[in-house]
Parts: sequence; C-alpha cells; structure tokens
Amino acid sequence: MEELVVLIVGAGPAGLATAACLSHRSIPYLIVEREDCSASLWRSRTYDRLKLHLAKEFCALPYMPYPDSAPTYIPKREFIKYVDHYTEHFDINPRYCICVESAAYDGETNRWAVAARDTVAGTEILFAARFLVVATGENAVGSIPTIPRLESFRGEAIHSSAYKSGTSYAGKSVLVVGSGNSGMEIAYDLARHGANTSIVVRSPVHIMTKELIRLGMTLVKYIPVTIVDPLIVNSANFVFGDLSGHGIVRPKIGPLLLKSKTGRSAVIDVGTVRLIKNGVIKVFGGILNVVGSKVEFEGGKHRSFDAIVFATGYRSTANLWLKDDKCLLNSDGLPKNDYPNHWKGANGVYCAGLARRGLAGISKDAMNIANDIVV
Ligand SMILES: Cc1cc2nc3c(=O)[nH]c(=O)nc-3n(C[C@H](O)[C@H](O)[C@H](O)COP(=O)(O)OP(=O)(O)OC[C@H]3O[C@@H](n4cnc5c(N)ncnc54)[C@H](O)[C@@H]3O)c2cc1C
Ligand SMILES: *[C@@H]1O[C@H](CO)[C@@H](O)[C@H](O)[C@H]1NC(C)=O
Repeated sequence: MEELVVLIVGAGPAGLATAACLSHRSIPYLIVEREDCSASLWRSRTYDRLKLHLAKEFCALPYMPYPDSAPTYIPKREFIKYVDHYTEHFDINPRYCICVESAAYDGETNRWAVAARDTVAGTEILFAARFLVVATGENAVGSIPTIPRLESFRGEAIHSSAYKSGTSYAGKSVLVVGSGNSGMEIAYDLARHGANTSIVVRSPVHIMTKELIRLGMTLVKYIPVTIVDPLIVNSANFVFGDLSGHGIVRPKIGPLLLKSKTGRSAVIDVGTVRLIKNGVIKVFGGILNVVGSKVEFEGGKHRSFDAIVFATGYRSTANLWLKDDKCLLNSDGLPKNDYPNHWKGANGVYCAGLARRGLAGISKDAMNIANDIVV
C-alpha cells in the first residue's frame, strides 16, 4: 500500500495541468497513466493532419502561454512538443503503464483506496490517497453506435481514433459516419487522397470557419452571446451558402450557446464543404443496416463500400472505476453538476477535463482543484 497526498489518474493535458498547479503550490502528488506515454490521445489516437481547432490563446495550459512565434492554430506535432516541454518544465514524472481499476472512499481512514494494475509486471498496486483527481478524459474510449448486422460488413470498419491518413484508401469507396470535426476532416483527407468518399450527416450541424469561431469566442467576452451567435451564423451563411440541398442544416440554437449548453462543438470547415458542393464527397442520411459490403440508408438507398470510418465520438470510462455512489460523475462518466460547479465531489475527489470545454476548461479545472486542496 502506497500512501499519497494526491493521486492524479491520467497523464493527458488535464492530469499534467493539475500536476503543474499542485507543484506551483508545493503540494506533493503522484500521477499515473495507463499507456506508456503522456497525452496518449494526441500521440497515438489522432489523425496526422490534425491541428488544434481553436486559436492558441484558447488552448494553453496553466502558467505556459504559447510563444508569439507559434502558429495561431497549433499542428498536432507542435502541440505534443508543447506538452513535452510543459512536462519537463514542471518536472512532472508520470508513472506509466498503471491502469486504475477501482477507487472508493474509506470513511475509517479518510483515504481514497485505489486499486491499479501494473500492465507490464501484471501486478496489482494499492494506493491510499487523501485526495483523488479524475483526469482520464472525455475521450477514454471510442464509441461506435449499434447498427443492425454491422458484424456482417466485409470491408474494414474502424473508429476515427485508429485513422491516420487517407494514403491507403486511394481508389476505394469509403463511408465516414459522423459529421463532427473529426468526421468532416477525415472525409476531406480521404477525398484528397483519391478515395471515393461519402459521409453520413444525421443531425443538424453548425459549419463555421476557424476565423469566425475565433472572432465569436473573443467577442463573447464583451458582448452577449445572443448577439454574437447570429452575427457569426449570418457571416458563415454568407461564406458557405445554403447547404440544405446537401442534407446539412443548422441547429436552431447558435454555435457558441450550443457549445456552452451541451458541449457540442461547431464544425470548423477545412475544405470539406467545397468538396460536398461540387459532388466529390457524397452526403447520406442515417444508416439503417449493413449486409455484406452493402449499407442501407434511411430513404431506401443502398451503396457498397470497401471501408467505414466511425467518427462517432468517444466515451468517458471513469464511471466504471470510481465508486462514490455517483456523487461526482453520472453513469456516462461525466460530471453530475453543471458547469461551473462540476469539478468537485465529496471527500476530496475532483475531476479535471470532463466538462466538455476543451483545453481552456482543463486549465480552469486544474487551477480550481489546486486552489481547493489544502494539506
Ligand atoms: C480529434 C480531437 C481533436 C481535438 N481538438 C481540440 C482542440 O483543438 N482544442 C481543444 O481545446 N480541445 C480539443 N480536443 C479535446 C481534447 O479532449 C483535449 O484537447 C484533451 O486532449 C483532453 O485532455 P484530457 O487530459 O482531459 O484527456 P486525454 O487527453 O484523453 O487524457 C486522459 C489520459 O488518461 C488516461 N487514462 C484513461 N483511463 C485511465 C485509467 N483507468 N487509468 C490510468 N490512466 C487512464 C488515458 O490513457 C489518457 O492518456 C480534441 C479532441 C479530439 C479527440
Ligand atoms: C462512389 O461512391 C458512390 C456512393 O457509394 C457510388 O454511388 C459511386 O458509384 C462510386 N463511384 C465509383 C467510381 O466507385
């Protein structure tokens, strides 16, 4: 049994930011990570052409802004370098290949009893921590919806977290399911690499330019969102035109308000819209079922595909190991309390990075947690 003051679970941006904030206040901690590296989502579960969708001023971790010389939209590789520099600067030494399997509060000792597996040695490790920080991410595992007879599909079916680039798909017919940022960008990448590309767009979505989102996020600090949202929506409509003929319509509620209310992000167009408009990328409605290589869509259309990429999002898994009577997290592994009261539970348990507010939200959570822990 290892006695700890603070145990941070997960060495992604949220865990690292919390570690830095604790160091800043000279509070001792241990940070554990199931993979063999930090920021595993960024290193091994994202596509090659990914850049941060938001401008750099909204994506910094605590105490380390990006240099003026950094590009406004940081490419994935640069972001990983930034994370490595951050880790080194704050002397953060995660213990890797440690997967937390359960955590429960022991009222007798006033400690969190945490059981973890050393995935290399295959041994069980027990921790007793005064404080516990859940930083295992909203993206802990990829989620694929249940589609009747998907298992009968003869081609390759992968989650977007396993997609790297379109190089190996040239000449193939590929269906991308999901029209969030990942799905729209992967469809673009596939088409650019010569794949015959189709995309499933099922729900309304706000297509925006990155500049309009940056403008909106800046304006909303000074002007009510009810004024900013229509402004950027009208501008986006001017840029993209009416896309309803292609099956793409906007949600009723504006993009910034939607993000803050539901966590759903606007789609930052990387060139996909032009390819949809000129017919290079074909749009389909929802999938009804799959038979062999054929996919049947709502409305009765059938098409054959060589591969399907599911850009259908992710799930948190913290609810599977945190045993606190669903005090901090709900059964989806996301905070039970609404923002801004989401980050603190009872008996010294906290969560960082689960409020669907990206890297800016992570920074705030980390600062709040470090300020709240008194030893
Ligand atoms: C494709 C993509 C693009 C994105 N772009 C942006 C963007 O431009 N701007 C922005 O602000 N946000 C963006 N995000 C949101 C993203 O969630 C954050 O940027 C950030 O990576 C979240 O950090 P995190 O530390 O909360 O989670 P993660 O980065 O997922 O880190 C959590 C860590 O916990 C580990 N872990 C999980 N379970 C356990 C366990 N049981 N025991 C031990 N360790 C565990 C995981 O291995 C992982 O390393 C993007 C996300 C994706 C998927
Ligand atoms: C491309 O895909 C679409 C949609 O599945 C299909 O209708 C079309 O025949 C395909 N074209 C080629 C050249 O394979």
